[in-house]
Amino acid sequence: MNNSSVTITIDGETVEVDVGRTILDGCRSAGVDTPTLCHGDNLTPSNVCRVCVVEVEGSRTLVPSCSRPAEEGMVVATDSERVRHSRKMVLEFLGSAVDVSQARDVDHDSDLSVWSDHYGADPTRYGDQVAKSSAPLKREDDLYVRDYDKCVLCYKCVEACGDDAQHTFAIAVSGRGFDAHISTEFDAALPDSACVYCGNCVAVCPTGALQFTTEFDLRKAADWRPEDQHVARTVCSYCGVGCNLELHVQDNTIVKVTSPSDHDVTSGMLCIKGRFGWQYVQPRF
Ligand code: SF4
Ligand code: SF4
Ligand code: FES
Repeated sequence: MNNSSVTITIDGETVEVDVGRTILDGCRSAGVDTPTLCHGDNLTPSNVCRVCVVEVEGSRTLVPSCSRPAEEGMVVATDSERVRHSRKMVLEFLGSAVDVSQARDVDHDSDLSVWSDHYGADPTRYGDQVAKSSAPLKREDDLYVRDYDKCVLCYKCVEACGDDAQHTFAIAVSGRGFDAHISTEFDAALPDSACVYCGNCVAVCPTGALQFTTEFDLRKAADWRPEDQHVARTVCSYCGVGCNLELHVQDNTIVKVTSPSDHDVTSGMLCIKGRFGWQYVQPRF
């Protein structure tokens, strides 16, 4: 141990973790894959999904690795029977209540379905005891679509719209229990709300509940082909801040724009111009 790092053990391996970093950071630097859903590299952890839990020696309960800071001498197990059982149950509960077919770790490009298969999660074993969400699709503008049948209430969009990036606070969780849902103020249509259409909520959403209209339409037409897309990095031309853009291009056409979550100017967040103002490059969209 030195003043800037702590030493922990993960699955029997000794790992150095910078002070203040989490168990998840330690897992990543040790090459231990860990499922996450509500975690974002550029967001304050909200700790709500619990797919990332691990066992810490001496701790009565499993702990969320995404938010628990690593402490000197911690002994962590990421693949114990208890951890596997808990992750499996969480994945089943999520899958039994909402459509998680598109759920993925946005920052690390891994699909949740891989983890469901890994743990043998079977959401159908609860039969119809759990009501599937049936929220109507909201398509209120040309820029993005809200499909809350896919929403796992992970809070990432709320954080991106609020304290962690945009400070617009256009959306929040409204209602309690089974009525809890992401909502604008007084459930106003998005164009009538405080939303400034930065699209940062869309960029962080891990399930496809929020999607760029271009992506949504291509998926609907069964023509969304990430394997055929290339990503061109450029600098936004609208002002002098220097935001980096990743242009996702399919068939020579821009299909969406993101920014890397580890970029020191944007931290993955953009404004409406950088995010959506690319039609001038290809006027046919
Ligand atoms: S587009 Fe921006 S302002 Fe609008 S809800 Fe999303 S994060 Fe908030
Ligand atoms: S809309 Fe997406 S980002 Fe927002 S709470 Fe639902 S799943 Fe999470
Ligand atoms: S990713 Fe850790 S609680 Fe959701």
